[in-house]
Amino acid sequence: MEQQRIILSEERPEDWFDLIIDYFNSHELYYGHGTINADHEASIILNWASEHSKNYQAIVNVCNERVISRKPLAYLLGEIEFASLLFAISPDTIIPRSPIGELIEDDFQPWLNLEKNDRVIDLCTGSGCIAIAIAKYYKDLQVIGTDISEQAIRQAEKNAIAHGVGEQINFIHCDLYPPKEARFKLIISNPPYVPSAHIEDLPKEYRWEPHMAFDGGADGLDIIHRLINGASERLRDDGILILEVGESQLAFENYYKKLETIWLEFTNGGEGVCVITAQALKDYFS
Ligand SMILES: C[S@@+](CC[C@H](N)C(=O)[O-])C[C@H]1O[C@@H](n2cnc3c(N)ncnc32)[C@H](O)[C@@H]1O
Repeated sequence: MEQQRIILSEERPEDWFDLIIDYFNSHELYYGHGTINADHEASIILNWASEHSKNYQAIVNVCNERVISRKPLAYLLGEIEFASLLFAISPDTIIPRSPIGELIEDDFQPWLNLEKNDRVIDLCTGSGCIAIAIAKYYKDLQVIGTDISEQAIRQAEKNAIAHGVGEQINFIHCDLYPPKEARFKLIISNPPYVPSAHIEDLPKEYRWEPHMAFDGGADGLDIIHRLINGASERLRDDGILILEVGESQLAFENYYKKLETIWLEFTNGGEGVCVITAQALKDYFS
């Protein structure tokens, strides 16, 4: 029979790592909100406890809640790593996990060279993780981040200040693109792309995240169409769009057969992210 609650001996902390793994593995948990398996979650919990001086009871509580509520670990701990940076997380925003983080850490090579004064916009910014990671890695750049959720914008602003890049990023509460301004060298986005009918079928962990972070309409492409149309008018001639379409890659490829799209590969896993150049957009719309 399944054990509902974890049993850890307070006197034997050396056993905790293995016991947490066994406990998680004996339950049906989904990993994919910034963690990859039970071992990863056990090590994050023990690191968190030591970093924040949490006691034995706090560890037991987190493990039990993870199994009983199926809440993603990042919400239970209030933090998660993205692009090697630690982000404070609240239930108002989706948990950062986009493979775009790896691309930022790799300096966008070989796709893009960002220089001082280049303009960058992160659409659908959520916690602000992408905009903030770019600002951290490129100290001279000014970045814009937008989101339709006011709570997300507030969380993103707090995160930017916590990372010391509050002055570098302008977070705007708006529907996709802000009013038109000068053209961008980089438009980057991890927008909602889950087909509406699939949302109910996602593992229980997803129910703790804001619904509007997922809903991409009937075929998952509603926001993506608007994003592509807008990018064609807002990119510089040497600019690029980096777009995550996740599980809607097939629907995207079927719809945009004539748009030259480069699909990226990631060392740390993840797919459904593409690069589209300004020239490709120009050709597509001409
Ligand atoms: C998949 S989440 C990505 C968040 C963040 N970029 C990340 O990678 O963690 C999508 C985000 O898009 C926002 N969103 C949904 N519709 C939007 C719209 N029309 N305009 C701007 N943001 C929107 C949601 O509030 C959510 O924060």
